[in-house]
Amino acid sequence: MPIAFDFSDRVTLITGAARGVGRAMVRQFVDAGSFVLAADRDQAGLAETVAELDAARVATSIGDISTPDGAAGIVNAAVARFGRLDVCVNNAAVAPHATLLEERVEVWDLVHGVNVRGTFLMTQAAARAMIAGGRPGRIINFSSGASKRGSAGAPAYASSRAATEAFSRVAAIELAQYNILVTCVSPGLIDTQPKPLPPRMAEALGRRVPALPMARAGEPEEVGQVVMFLASEAASYMTGTIVEVDGGAGIGSRFEGATVVDDDSRYDWVTGRIANPGVSPS
Ligand SMILES: NC(=O)c1ccc[n+]([C@@H]2O[C@H](COP(=O)([O-])OP(=O)(O)OC[C@H]3O[C@@H](n4cnc5c(N)ncnc54)[C@H](O)[C@@H]3O)[C@@H](O)[C@H]2O)c1
Repeated sequence: MPIAFDFSDRVTLITGAARGVGRAMVRQFVDAGSFVLAADRDQAGLAETVAELDAARVATSIGDISTPDGAAGIVNAAVARFGRLDVCVNNAAVAPHATLLEERVEVWDLVHGVNVRGTFLMTQAAARAMIAGGRPGRIINFSSGASKRGSAGAPAYASSRAATEAFSRVAAIELAQYNILVTCVSPGLIDTQPKPLPPRMAEALGRRVPALPMARAGEPEEVGQVVMFLASEAASYMTGTIVEVDGGAGIGSRFEGATVVDDDSRYDWVTGRIANPGVSPS
């Protein structure tokens, strides 16, 4: 049962709104009463996102968050259309994968340009607009569980997401004096890929999903709910926090009551005696 948040008359900007988690969040914030500026570089996807939503409450902006003009243009569009900016959700990202030995420098730069520089530029532009408006604000950035795990094939992506976490902490410290709270959401595996999946991806997920603690991927709306919490008054004393929305993926693998194999039967841990003197501990 989703929690019913109330964002009546608040203005929320969501990047990466043409698909996936961003698209879900546009609907969630509109349903919660917010005016929403949905931004992306994908015009057709954006049009699909807002097709069935109330045009009085939602507007779109096509732009590239990785350029200063693109980021400023998106923020200006929100202020021009709705008069102010209360919440900025920096969800847009790219995630091309390649191994370290095969990684091309252009792809590395693209990933860091969108995921890190884009998050910086959007945070800077949003904070400037919030300060100019003289109102408190919330900025919610995005990271990934890959920022902590050594995920093979993700040298650029994982490092870019670790950078957004570090950046969010600095932004939180600097912007607290303006009552702008900055947090970061770190999703695990979220079901955002268009179907049908390519065979190799389907096969890889078929192996990965059963090993997740909850043995399923998360839904985009399950990330959106946490973003709404962070944007809400319920999170009024949270800033600089990284919130994991990963069904426990960051803490371990699924356990189904199988035998615990690393318990050492040679010891009586209470008395300290060797329970089986025939086998000496190494
Ligand atoms: N889906 C997952 O399993 C997962 C896991 C961990 C973290 N995340 C994070 O969650 C967020 C959303 O993930 P998703 O799967 O919904 O992403 P997605 O790939 O489905 O959508 C990303 C959107 O960002 C837009 N975008 C990319 N570059 C842009 C740019 N330069 N300017 C403007 N828009 C741009 C794309 O057009 C796209 O619409 C991302 O920040 C991602 O790193 C996702």
